[in-house]
Amino acid sequence: MKTRSSLTVVAALLGAALLVAPSAATAAGQAHEADTRHGRPLVIAHRGASAYAPENTLAAVDRAHDLGIDWVENDVQRTRDGELVVIHDDTLRRTTDAERVFPDRAPWKVKDFTAAEIARLDAGSWFGERWAGARVPTLSRYLRSVEANGQKLLLEIKSPELYPGIEGDILRVLRAEGWLDRSHVAGRLVVQSFAADSVRTVHERRPEITTGFLGTPEVADLPDYAAFTDQINPSHTSLTTAHIAAAHRLKGPHGRPLTVNTWTVDDAAGAVRVRDLGVDGIITNSPDVVRDALG
Ligand code: G3P
Ligand code: CA
Repeated sequence: MKTRSSLTVVAALLGAALLVAPSAATAAGQAHEADTRHGRPLVIAHRGASAYAPENTLAAVDRAHDLGIDWVENDVQRTRDGELVVIHDDTLRRTTDAERVFPDRAPWKVKDFTAAEIARLDAGSWFGERWAGARVPTLSRYLRSVEANGQKLLLEIKSPELYPGIEGDILRVLRAEGWLDRSHVAGRLVVQSFAADSVRTVHERRPEITTGFLGTPEVADLPDYAAFTDQINPSHTSLTTAHIAAAHRLKGPHGRPLTVNTWTVDDAAGAVRVRDLGVDGIITNSPDVVRDALG
């Protein structure tokens, strides 16, 4: 028979365990709460600090870190041979020298090139000569930089209709790189997309992950979204206080109010405007400008 004191010890140990290891459902959905608790919107570096370094490169991640910005956003797509790479456009033309290196490969779609071919490309010179030699990072390499900097990631599944099954590929890489453990899922990772089906797939396969839908659903449809997404992330051009308030009134899949992160706001006046409308986060190419504007 257990004595009163041994029961007390067991209870204390259980309590301690709960303190250090909250349930996945509790932990998920806290990704933003911890940062917005102080009342200021979160600042998220869009494609890294992309006003100052070539977008979606490791240099843009490091630039955000140098500016003291914790959160970076990126765009993930897939190569012909199944590697996940971080790049925004579905072609290589704008942000690499693919046209010069592979002149006969028009229209230079990301999905038509192997990872080895993309690794040869210069993803920095288009932005400025000092960035020559920057590469299109693989998602694995990108995660290691974010990790090394102690940063947090808003990962966008870009154009998933071009890459059937990419959600599973992304989850495999996240797991392999240690990004699906409790500490990451609890506050360092959000997966978002413009494609609701893609967000829903991520939620169904890994319910502990905080998810975001990019867009501005009708208010009447928000409850449907709240079944699988924790965030509603609209363009700043579509924001209204009524829409934000409607999102805040709903609880997401982890039992917490939906949060709203808007994009892309790069100037001080714009940052103040969307803060006053009530957003929880601002996705910006100029995170220092927005941070300073918020005081
Ligand atoms: O994270 C929001 C924003 O990145 C969505 O638009 O086109 O820049 O990926 P886009
Ligand atoms: Ca994006």
